[in-house]
Amino acid sequence: MNLPKMEGPKAFVIGWPVKHSRSPMIHGFWLRELGIPGSYERAEIAPDAFAEFLGTLSKLGYAGGNVTVPYKEKAFALCSATSETAARLKAVNTLWIEGGKLYGDNTDVGGFLAALDHDVPDWDTNVKKALVLGAGGAARAIVQALILRNLDEIMIMNRTSSRIDELVNLFGPKVIPFQRGNSSALAVADLVINTTSLGMKDQPPLDFDVSGLPEKALVVDIIYVPLETELLRAARERGLKTVSGLSMLLHQAVPGFERWFGQRPVVTEALRQLIEMDVLGINPGKHPGQK
Ligand code: ATR
Repeated sequence: MNLPKMEGPKAFVIGWPVKHSRSPMIHGFWLRELGIPGSYERAEIAPDAFAEFLGTLSKLGYAGGNVTVPYKEKAFALCSATSETAARLKAVNTLWIEGGKLYGDNTDVGGFLAALDHDVPDWDTNVKKALVLGAGGAARAIVQALILRNLDEIMIMNRTSSRIDELVNLFGPKVIPFQRGNSSALAVADLVINTTSLGMKDQPPLDFDVSGLPEKALVVDIIYVPLETELLRAARERGLKTVSGLSMLLHQAVPGFERWFGQRPVVTEALRQLIEMDVLGINPGKHPGQK
């Protein structure tokens, strides 16, 4: 007797372009590990087809999916309802269908906190002042996360000062502009987070000197290609604690998987190694030298 093939829930990542997304590898790992008969695929949807795609998710059989650059704000605008976090940021990275309607959340905030909690337990017990490099969409999620953990002060440094003002207006007086060269403010920054694209592969370097930071500072980069940026390397060589963008990438994926596939997955060392190998261009399923 031929039993019908179990297909299970379907999820996607939508972006433009989306071919470099590691999300299919992360969710594919968890589906295999947990033995769930579901699937997760890339959806490379052009801007003019984006709204139509989101409008037909149920018809296409999707339980939901992830949203990446440049669609996080556009997707937010198309949701019937969102989490409070997403409403604050006006951006979503996780979508799901409930009762035929489109819902959205922003798991970048929780993913950032989960990565720090996992990699540096109790990191926030002594952190009072943070310095955020950059003031774009990623910075917004990180400032929200730091506000949730009740930091005293969140200093922002950015090339375009009007974007700092936007963050001050959104989050209030804990957020203050940081002027490059302000060494006394730098000397009390317990936490530094790079949210710019500077230091990423094929991008200009980030010009930031870690030598002025306090001895116990924690340094974080949202970039994961390369796995260790120049900023993190310099911080590590100075003996500072560091957290990489890969940790955040892995942890932000957890809530979406749980929602679509019904089980909460765990960020394990095996998963981390799989993605690290991919970033390094090593395919573990193949013999060395095999294309
Ligand atoms: P994301 O959603 O990833 O945060 P974004 O909103 O485009 O992307 O923000 C990118 C951040 O990197 C911004 O802070 C940007 O600075 P500006 O606001 O001045 O544009 C910063 N950034 C990108 N390229 C930069 C460069 N060459 N020099 C300085 N800052 C740069």
